[in-house]
Amino acid sequence: MSNTKSRIFLSPPFVGAAERAAVARAFDSGYVAPCGPQVDEFERMLAKLAGRKYAVAVSSGTAAIDLLMAELGVDETWTVFAPTLTFIATVGPAFHRGARLVFADSDATGNIDVSLLEKALGSLRAKKALVVGVDLYGNCCDYGAIAKLCRKFGAVFVTDAAEAVGAMREGRPAGSAGLAGVYSFNGNKIITTSGGGAIVTDDRGLAERARKRAQQSREKCVWYEHKEVGYNYRLSNILAALGLAQLGRLPAILRKREANFKWYAKNWKGDLLAPTPGANHWLTVALLASRRERDRLLRRFAAADIEARPVWKPLHLQPVFAKCRVFGGEVAEALFERGVCLPSGTGLKSGDFARIETCIS
Ligand SMILES: Cc1ncc(COP(=O)(O)O)c(C=O)c1O
Repeated sequence: MSNTKSRIFLSPPFVGAAERAAVARAFDSGYVAPCGPQVDEFERMLAKLAGRKYAVAVSSGTAAIDLLMAELGVDETWTVFAPTLTFIATVGPAFHRGARLVFADSDATGNIDVSLLEKALGSLRAKKALVVGVDLYGNCCDYGAIAKLCRKFGAVFVTDAAEAVGAMREGRPAGSAGLAGVYSFNGNKIITTSGGGAIVTDDRGLAERARKRAQQSREKCVWYEHKEVGYNYRLSNILAALGLAQLGRLPAILRKREANFKWYAKNWKGDLLAPTPGANHWLTVALLASRRERDRLLRRFAAADIEARPVWKPLHLQPVFAKCRVFGGEVAEALFERGVCLPSGTGLKSGDFARIETCIS
């Protein structure tokens, strides 16, 4: 079923006969070129999942974020606010466009501390401000509070829900907040298209422009006519077929991920990062007493050929962002020092848990 052999991976793709058949059907239908009916259907299903009107399927979550930056016209005149505890792709596209990056610390959930975000927005009073909320490890950030702040300070709000496909926050799906949300279908995510991503939005113009930009911004014309320079970011039809088969499994995947979390809650004697209600339990995170304890646990896993990883190293500690402003930072630093992302794959079986148990007890 899964691709795991003897090594236990952190979150490997969970694919099988349904995915193989879906890819074969797309192949046999002749739609091997990037566009095709599976892309259209995948977009319809993603929009439904996100509670949005539109979805644009692209080649990665990073490409989706980049397209949003292009849409907003983010450049060196913009200030982009993001949590420090996230993957670099949250801010990479804004960095490439020369925007000023400002980071805010986490609260106890690991997500952005809304009071520090308020402090950051209030003290910088940027004319062109963008807030990228992130749903860390499948725990949705506080959409309502962040949206309120963005309205107060005239900032644009988008959500990086790359890790949160299928998660909810107070009755709202991940990706439903702000101008647009972003999903990732990278191989390690809750569902995968091998590599892929999407923008979800209620803004028809945004969706249409993003779709066009993702296809070299070609005008509707028999020859190649361009009024602007675009990108080659479209998801291929074959991969959309894979994504559709994965979406069909999503309810079962979410149940299994929750069961994984519950197994750790029962068998791990220390603390866990508490999931927010409605989390998709993408990764379960153990909190150790110290960096030394964290490293000891990581060594135990490595010796057993089990993949486990430290929590994201905060972006304000990354050498490349050394000059960026950060509001707070200690909470994210402590989570990095003490946190271990535990094996959380959908394909984990009882034999795998038995091996994991020997490392955590
Ligand atoms: C928070 C976050 N943002 C963005 C991305 C980028 O997604 P992708 O790998 O599909 O480009 C990822 C995952 O890789 C992520 O975890």
